[in-house]
Amino acid sequence: MYLTLKLKKNFDYSHQIEIGKSIFSHTREVIENEFNPDKCIIITDENVFKIYKQKIKKELTGNSKHFHIYVIPADEKSKSQKTRDFLENEITKLRLSRDSMLIAIGGGVVGDITGFLASTLLRGIKYINVPTTIIAQVDSSIGGKTAINTKYAKNLIGTFHYPSFVLIDTDFLQTLDMDEYLNGISEIIKTSLVGLENTFSFLEKNYKSVLEKNENVLLKLIKDCVSFKSKIVMIDPTEKNWRKILNFGHTVGHALESLSGYRIKHGFAIAEGMITESYIAFVTNGLSEVDLLRIQYLIDILNLDKKFRRKISFNKAYDKMLYDKKKIGNSLTFSLIKKIGLCSFNNKVNKHIIELAYRH
Ligand SMILES: NC(=O)c1ccc[n+]([C@@H]2O[C@H](COP(=O)([O-])OP(=O)(O)OC[C@H]3O[C@@H](n4cnc5c(N)ncnc54)[C@H](O)[C@@H]3O)[C@@H](O)[C@H]2O)c1
Repeated sequence: MYLTLKLKKNFDYSHQIEIGKSIFSHTREVIENEFNPDKCIIITDENVFKIYKQKIKKELTGNSKHFHIYVIPADEKSKSQKTRDFLENEITKLRLSRDSMLIAIGGGVVGDITGFLASTLLRGIKYINVPTTIIAQVDSSIGGKTAINTKYAKNLIGTFHYPSFVLIDTDFLQTLDMDEYLNGISEIIKTSLVGLENTFSFLEKNYKSVLEKNENVLLKLIKDCVSFKSKIVMIDPTEKNWRKILNFGHTVGHALESLSGYRIKHGFAIAEGMITESYIAFVTNGLSEVDLLRIQYLIDILNLDKKFRRKISFNKAYDKMLYDKKKIGNSLTFSLIKKIGLCSFNNKVNKHIIELAYRH
């Protein structure tokens, strides 16, 4: 006997994203007014907690017994089975219910593991994301991807589980050290290259203010990027097609990041990936020489090109790229810009063009 369970019904994952300066205190209002959970479990990391402990107490938890705080090491290694086990054991001791809620306050590491826990605890509970790095504000908090790493590769175990609310307070970015800050700026450049021509021009005109962490400039950039990524996620939530454009710079970038043993930061690896992949786009996808030079200049002037690729032979980098999940059969596919602000995906590129661009 065969039965068909028709389960095509769409679930509603709609949620709000609030972006602004000095809005962290709204988190409490949102929790009380919109969700009214029986317990709130805050997950943060050591660095964030050290800087923001008082603020979290003053503007969010007060002395309420509803809130429980867990602080994990500030390290990519926290996206692990070990930290997951630890947190699951601690959190389930609290006897949570389907009305309990997790709150991530931190960068992408905290957001990814919190989202993942929320997707599996009691088969799924709500969580709020308060991202505190640029990468987390413009990228990891938007789009519902959650994950932990295995010893073989990053983000191999994960789910799509959307937050119930994302609160982006750009004040947090002022305490990032310069390396973390620029790491995130690279992500903003990438977003502008794949879809926001005006934002790219704005970056060119305002690069000095960007380096000075000008609050208004940052707020505009974060708003632009979040709006754009949100649109892409709404069109293609599970990365079947258009969401792939966000991978521009990532085929080469991921290979470099991985070959450095993750010693170079993601954003710097992606900056080098964007330089190489822009050259591929110049050769194969109609990118003009003027646009190519503008991209190289902006990345240089913001000091994002660490030239790590010069230390890695092309063959080594190419082997690594072949392991990239974006390959189809044995040829590599790239998301490639056509001009600043316009990108296409699933472009097959042959090895000798990649080599030409890599050595350029
Ligand atoms: N889910 C997704 O769609 C997605 C997208 C992109 C990246 N990611 C993941 O995000 C992670 C990278 O995120 P990240 O760059 O935010 O790294 P991170 O979370 O490790 O944060 C970087 C560092 O900044 C510190 N920090 C955070 N906020 C701070 C603040 N306001 N002031 C001072 N220091 C602060 C942290 O303690 C940490 O030391 C990776 O694990 C990556 O896989 C996920």
